[in-house]
Amino acid sequence: MPLQTKVYDSFVAKPYSPVLGAEVYGVDLTQPLSNQQHTDIQDAFLTYGVLFFKQQQPLEPEQHLALGRRFGKLHVHPAKVPTVEGYPEIIRIYADENSTVANGTAWHTDVTFEKTPPMGTMLQINTKPDVGGDTLYSNLYTAYDELSEPIKKLCQGLTQRCSGHAYHKGRYAERGVKNSDQQLPDPVDHPVIRTHPETGRKAIFVNKSFTECINDLTKVESDSILNILFEQAEKPEHQIRYRWSVNDLAFWDNRCVMHYAMFDYWPQLRVGHRVTIVGDQPY
Ligand code: SIN
Repeated sequence: MPLQTKVYDSFVAKPYSPVLGAEVYGVDLTQPLSNQQHTDIQDAFLTYGVLFFKQQQPLEPEQHLALGRRFGKLHVHPAKVPTVEGYPEIIRIYADENSTVANGTAWHTDVTFEKTPPMGTMLQINTKPDVGGDTLYSNLYTAYDELSEPIKKLCQGLTQRCSGHAYHKGRYAERGVKNSDQQLPDPVDHPVIRTHPETGRKAIFVNKSFTECINDLTKVESDSILNILFEQAEKPEHQIRYRWSVNDLAFWDNRCVMHYAMFDYWPQLRVGHRVTIVGDQPY
């Protein structure tokens, strides 16, 4: 069923596409959320996969933390990533004329190289180029649903090996950050197909940034199945491409959505702040 506009008690959510995302009007995120707003946001989050809160003011660090904490414990990234001084839970997203790379410029769901990867992420973009710097999101439920039955069956019992070392070495070495991967956990195993703990729906759970291989298969078998799944998850039909307005805040569900930050705006400035909410062990 295509996504529809939903009128909640505390706001209106308008679908961004028939398959994924909604723009949310009528919530001021600088203020503490009421219980009604919290309940409505939780429902919309599970319905649309990613929410874009429109017409926002810049959040102070304490406001951003308070907002994130309404939805769970806050995550601290295990690698040496740039954070706001005094706030290890707030990652600074930053690229300017000196940047050769930016955060997240490859398909991924956040930090899947941890045993319990984050359930959700809240990113506010405070400075952006006039055009460019969009973020792409892909719906991993619909990607899974459209696999053929034999491939679903084949993938069902499979596990993947995830690691952040290659990604972090590549991304941060280019920015002159030495040993950014030093504190990363050892590689972990996760299911290739995950069941969302709240909706019960199944989703593809491999990504090009952190999945190293499918366990127990030969390299050729693993590469071939991963290619099928990557291609399926990256199909434009499952995607949206979000064009930010200044101070929009996106809240995405890492259990069923992956994302890709476009770096097409050099030498312009793009700055944002991100908090991430702890999740549970995928199954
Ligand atoms: C990220 O969290 O991967 C960055 C997303 C973005 O900058 O749009």
